[in-house]
Amino acid sequence: MLYGADYNPDQWPEEVWDEDVRLMREAGVNVVSLGIFAWSRIQPAEGVWDFAWLDTVIGKLHAGGIRVNLATATASPPPWVSAQYPETLPADESGASYWPGSRQHFAPSSPTYRRLAGELVRRLAERYVDHPAVAMWHVGNEFGCHLWMDFSDAARDAYRDWLGRRYGTVEALNAAWGTSFWSQRYARFDEIFPPRLAPYSHNPSSMLDWRRFTSDMLLECYLMEREILLAAGATQPITTNFMGPFKPADYAAWAPHMDVIADDCYPDPTNPHRIRDAAFQRDLVRSLKPGVPWILMEQATDAVNWRPWNPGKRPGVLAAETAQSVGRGADGIMFFQWRQSRAGSEKFHSAMLPHAGTGTATWRSVTDLGERLGALPELPPPGRDARVALVFDWENWWAVEERDHPVEIDYLALCLEWYGALHSRGLMVDIVPPEKVDDGYDLAIAPALYLLRDEGAASLTRFVGDGGTLLAGPFTDIVDGHDQFRSGGFLTQLGPVLGVRFEDFGALGGPTTGGTGVGAQAARASADGDRAPFRLGHVEATGSLVAELVHPVEADVVASFTDGRAAGSPAVTRHAFGAGEGWYVATMPDPVGLDAIVGAVVEASGVRPVVANLPAGVEAARRGDLVTVINHGDDEVVVTLAGTDAETGAPLGRTTLPAQGVLFAWAPIDSGPSPMPTSVDDSVATPA
Ligand code: GAL
Repeated sequence: MLYGADYNPDQWPEEVWDEDVRLMREAGVNVVSLGIFAWSRIQPAEGVWDFAWLDTVIGKLHAGGIRVNLATATASPPPWVSAQYPETLPADESGASYWPGSRQHFAPSSPTYRRLAGELVRRLAERYVDHPAVAMWHVGNEFGCHLWMDFSDAARDAYRDWLGRRYGTVEALNAAWGTSFWSQRYARFDEIFPPRLAPYSHNPSSMLDWRRFTSDMLLECYLMEREILLAAGATQPITTNFMGPFKPADYAAWAPHMDVIADDCYPDPTNPHRIRDAAFQRDLVRSLKPGVPWILMEQATDAVNWRPWNPGKRPGVLAAETAQSVGRGADGIMFFQWRQSRAGSEKFHSAMLPHAGTGTATWRSVTDLGERLGALPELPPPGRDARVALVFDWENWWAVEERDHPVEIDYLALCLEWYGALHSRGLMVDIVPPEKVDDGYDLAIAPALYLLRDEGAASLTRFVGDGGTLLAGPFTDIVDGHDQFRSGGFLTQLGPVLGVRFEDFGALGGPTTGGTGVGAQAARASADGDRAPFRLGHVEATGSLVAELVHPVEADVVASFTDGRAAGSPAVTRHAFGAGEGWYVATMPDPVGLDAIVGAVVEASGVRPVVANLPAGVEAARRGDLVTVINHGDDEVVVTLAGTDAETGAPLGRTTLPAQGVLFAWAPIDSGPSPMPTSVDDSVATPA
């Protein structure tokens, strides 16, 4: 188990470094991410290099038995780069420059930035590639974090090249973008600009490519550095830190290029869905590289500095949040940062070693945590523990949130709502693009999968044919990979699987203020006809966003709208297809409806929770034979679980978990007659 933090010794005088290493050992730290923002210290001017301090720091860490995740330091170019090479600066939509003075002020597609960054990486790699302390390489930092898009001239030139490579001919691009519309037909690639400030909507197909391009430019920066490291003979794992569901970068496309997935996660203490949202993020990053444990590269020991209000963590929350990562596949727990900064924007951000020193609750909690994690036995790699797939797709995210649609959709919020209904049932869930839905799963849920690529449609169809249960909708299977309607209307790919014909979207009115939160919309009883109530068994529910007009061709109607413009038409359908079933939901249900529908498909598919009947606020996750149970509540609970305590070896039975308490248990998968091999048998796990 890796345990450590970002370490920025360049912010401190040399006298502090010995104390750092001594205290790191005391805290159980065995790895640090070193020098992430140290470019200006390593290269104070063009052609001037200073590695002496870094040699000293790495030497001290090595002597102390602390391994180094060596940063390539390219995330914040020094002042001389911006002053001498203004072409490295990014630009906003209107073409105005972003200026230095913060960080991440570089245009990812700038050849000059790449040349200068590449030179830095090469020097670092050649100097340290064989150093015994260097255990991993940390490329850049949170690519794209602050600057979601760059509209500079460097981006313009790179975009034209990228489009040329993608389409070959400008005619192919015209077809893919549908440029007959609004006189947008291009004669040459060099007539194309980034989607800079325009009077009205940009061509949506071009916006989709622009998003792909933006993700690719960030990825190219990562790959450029990775290739330099490999060319210098690096044999250590190479990674960069992800940010969970981060819209600008398609991490599913990045993952094959990472030796290990690293992720930064800062749950917001004021978010009522903090546990659900963090579980989603951890399941997402685990699903990016099945079978390979991931690293929580950054979390906060206590408060952050960058939200408008920054409360700290309540006692025990740090350990509980950490256990959520371990239980969901992490083999490394790290923080931003080791020693709290004395100056700069993050001087209020918590750290392992706070300003107030070692006589603090923070220090006690990080040393306790280090001891506990250090004593854990070796954990199994996270495998195919989930029998449920939540379909989540970056290209769809980009396309479904484009403007000029029947309704405004917050895709991540919708996915979190559907995920929440699975998480609250204690089910293990993988979060994957449609192409990755295979017969390793029993149930797949695809919310608002507006853009459905041919390959994705084929794998979902195969999945159901082979016996899986698919729940789709609403606003699913509407456009192809170019954001164009296919001929034949909508649900052209999944229609046969779902047994329905789709006629119209039936957009409902939206909230007049606030976001597109499902609750907000469902609660709003707006203009006549915009209500979309439906009844499922005894459950009275309401839909929001859309009340689509679908006709059952072969499907059974499970629930119908009882009022509003869609009254009488199906809200939920179910259809036997091949050896499986396709369900369709024609509206975004409120939490009560969502829970009832998810309950119905869970029952139909036979998937079972990791641990049945857990008390509210208690979650469980499986990674191989390890089951992690966490009491996120404020009261103590008793759980009964068959297995042994992974920390003490003691047999388990009735176990008391205090508020924020964590239990790591060996509870092998029941290999008995249970049809659900991934679940602990209900009979052995019940609440007190
Ligand atoms: C991350 C970043 C770190 C630090 C941290 C503060 O986004 O990678 O460098 O800024 O946030 O929470």
